[in-house]
Amino acid sequence: MALRALVASKALRLGLQSEPRIRAHSRGLQTFSLPDLPYDYGALEPAISGEIMQIHHQKHHQAYVTNYNKALEQLHDAIGKGDAAAAVKLQSAIKFNGGGHVNHSIFWKNLTPVSQGGGEHPHGKLGWAIDTNFGTFEALVQKISAEGAALQGSGWVWLALDKEFNKLVVETTANQDPLVTKGASLVPLLGIDVWEHAYYLQYKNVRPDYLKNIWKVINWKYASEVYEKESP
Ligand SMILES: [Fe+2]
Repeated sequence: MALRALVASKALRLGLQSEPRIRAHSRGLQTFSLPDLPYDYGALEPAISGEIMQIHHQKHHQAYVTNYNKALEQLHDAIGKGDAAAAVKLQSAIKFNGGGHVNHSIFWKNLTPVSQGGGEHPHGKLGWAIDTNFGTFEALVQKISAEGAALQGSGWVWLALDKEFNKLVVETTANQDPLVTKGASLVPLLGIDVWEHAYYLQYKNVRPDYLKNIWKVINWKYASEVYEKESP
């Protein structure tokens, strides 16, 4: 498979088909770049501090992008040399760093300042689906918060649309595994980062407090738009 096609295939499987920040590499390899945040670093305060947002975006997300591109370049070289073992060896780095890029790109869109509707409950089709699947909006929030707090180590807690069964589900993924690793029919509507780097500077070791306050800046409008686009 030509490298360009292989990268495009990988991007599709990771849900990056709409990824806007792809640039042509000098060696002909397409690479990924850090997306801009749609708000200022301090715009989510007091729920999430500007210091956390800046480090999270500029350092952590940038590192995933850098290492994803590095792994893809190495894959390019391995394929060019016909080195199958080296290509397989790179899969964990591609999954971890590519997953980190995919997950954080979603996470930034899942947040928005209170002045722009952060925390406003979902209405319309998604609001109705939440009531149908979880009883009440409050019950959903409680479930996501509880599962996020209980997740051992680092990972993510998700609200997803399962397109196969046309229902909403709550899932968790370890490390930087993207949601698609839990099922090909799962579409992420909302992903919450429960790595310590997402909250430690402000909330120290009290992850439940972070999960209590993050609801004040959740962008349900974005989740609703994805749901309405993806639901059958
Ligand atoms: Fe993160």
